[in-house]
Amino acid sequence: MRKISPSVLNVDKEKLVPYINKLIEWNVTNVHYDVMDNIFVPNVALQYKEIEMIKKECLKHTMDIHLMVKDVFGYYKMYKDIGDILTFHFEAMSQEDLQHLIAKARHDNVKLGLAISPETNVEVIRPYLKYLSLVLIMSVKPGFGGQKFIDASYDKVFALKRMIQEEKKEIIIQIDGGVKLDNIKYCFDAGVDLAVVGSFLVENFSEEIIKKLLK
Ligand code: DX5
Ligand code: ZN
Repeated sequence: MRKISPSVLNVDKEKLVPYINKLIEWNVTNVHYDVMDNIFVPNVALQYKEIEMIKKECLKHTMDIHLMVKDVFGYYKMYKDIGDILTFHFEAMSQEDLQHLIAKARHDNVKLGLAISPETNVEVIRPYLKYLSLVLIMSVKPGFGGQKFIDASYDKVFALKRMIQEEKKEIIIQIDGGVKLDNIKYCFDAGVDLAVVGSFLVENFSEEIIKKLLK
């Protein structure tokens, strides 16, 4: 699978609905929603009310929610019925909490993703892989859009791809941060299924660019 999941973090609030609807008209199936708590990362992003409004007002699409938050269980409860895939950070919780979160998601039939920050070794994912729907490799430090892609991320994607093949399970590999026209092909070639594209698409918003990103 080679798809994009545009991040709307840097879209003006009043333009969110038309921006998302345009994406869907252009056959984009996934949109990436960043949620931040100003604790796990020093920033805030979309609020629950805004995501609720988007779900109500926008054309139907897969909502992948990237939760950069410390209170994993509080946010899980809040978002479990609104998002299609909920992705939390490995670094935000203890191993015990992660096991507990996995059990909850299995019980509730919620698709769970796990994100790792640039400083985290991809091997930490291995024991949990079979319970996940998605793994998100952060290619920038989480918290802000518009940062430069960290090249070491390609090797992490390669390694993850191998791990997933060994597990013989369908798990989406997502990459997030600094993805642009000049590096997306390398991401896909390394094994990425779903590339988050934030500020690059906000600055170059056209159907042609989307086609080029997927070429
Ligand atoms: C950063 C967020 C990203 C961000 C990506 O912490 O997780 O989703 O919006 O934006 P760009 O593509 O501009 O790096
Ligand atoms: Zn994100």
